[in-house]
Amino acid sequence: MTDLSTLKSEVQQAVEAANDIAALEEARVSALGKKGRVTELLKTLGTLPETERKDFGARINVLKSELENLIEARKAKLGTAALDARLMSEKADVTLSVRPEDKGAIHPISRTIADIVALLSPLGFSVAEGPDIESDFYNFAALNMPPDHPARQMQDTFYLGLGDSGAGGLESSNPESPSPQAPMVLRTHTSPVQVRTMLQSKPPIRILAPGRVFRRDFDQTHAPMFHQVEGLVIDETTHMGHLKGVLMDFLRGFFGVPDLKVRFRPSYFPFTEPSAEVDIGCSRPGGKIKIGEGDDWLEVLGCGMVHGKVLNNCNIDPAKYQGFAFGMGVERLAMLKYGIPDLRTFFEADLRWLRHYGFSVLGD
Ligand code: PHE
Repeated sequence: MTDLSTLKSEVQQAVEAANDIAALEEARVSALGKKGRVTELLKTLGTLPETERKDFGARINVLKSELENLIEARKAKLGTAALDARLMSEKADVTLSVRPEDKGAIHPISRTIADIVALLSPLGFSVAEGPDIESDFYNFAALNMPPDHPARQMQDTFYLGLGDSGAGGLESSNPESPSPQAPMVLRTHTSPVQVRTMLQSKPPIRILAPGRVFRRDFDQTHAPMFHQVEGLVIDETTHMGHLKGVLMDFLRGFFGVPDLKVRFRPSYFPFTEPSAEVDIGCSRPGGKIKIGEGDDWLEVLGCGMVHGKVLNNCNIDPAKYQGFAFGMGVERLAMLKYGIPDLRTFFEADLRWLRHYGFSVLGD
């Protein structure tokens, strides 16, 4: 007679070994199906003597229900495992690139701003930011450009809300609220961040103000939106010699030319006195600019000692404090450093351009 406990352990093994629903069903059929081993045993009951039949029948039925429970338990487990596996295989990491074959790249503008900050922050500069939409006070009046100041015309300003005609106004002494005479503007430089910083904090001040600026201009070297980084240092002792040292070191580091010729040429800005424009040595063989060689000059930034009137407007005593400011165009520096010929292409979002001029995320 078949040993029921052997049968049980064999079926049990087959059930445990089944790794998917199909294999489990096979194990079930071979034990409990119409021609399964347990079913076949039940069929033999009739051949047994009456005395044994009852007892053996009961044992087979116990075995049958045990095996059914086993199979059910295994089925539940395989079902959960199958669901888990499916969830795992179908899981989507929403932070991954939609097209992993297309690696992202850092835009030359971001890269250039990061380079400028990296070169200057060891000197104690920290980054300050301000709004793109500015009041007349922060963008002009506080910077020693009263309403009728001719320098306002140099800036090709976008005025907001009140047409493009009004160039500032009499009421620009109110820093926050616009008036018909002094409408809000898209900031024409990041100098308003300097004003905000001076009004909010006490010297010593050392900040860099990177950001978007806006002017009504559009050609190969001008875009209506571009980027600047301005710098400001205010304390009791900083003088023009420091300004020259900082900018010379910066430019030599930025262009990677240790003996780069740097020239400070007297100039005019309403917010600095004295003011200078800074030129670097270059040559122009066949019209192409080569930095760091030759006898030609190329203008790269504006700078000067902060005007006493600006300090006064920002509640800083010009008899006690002084310092310098400088400003540079990010696109212009990037064009020179990376040989990009047209400023407008920075903002065309042309993937081929981005692949060509972009930088790898992990540095290069
Ligand atoms: N704000 C000036 C501009 O945008 C740049 C500048 C800043 C010049 C600081 C001198 C000092 O034209």
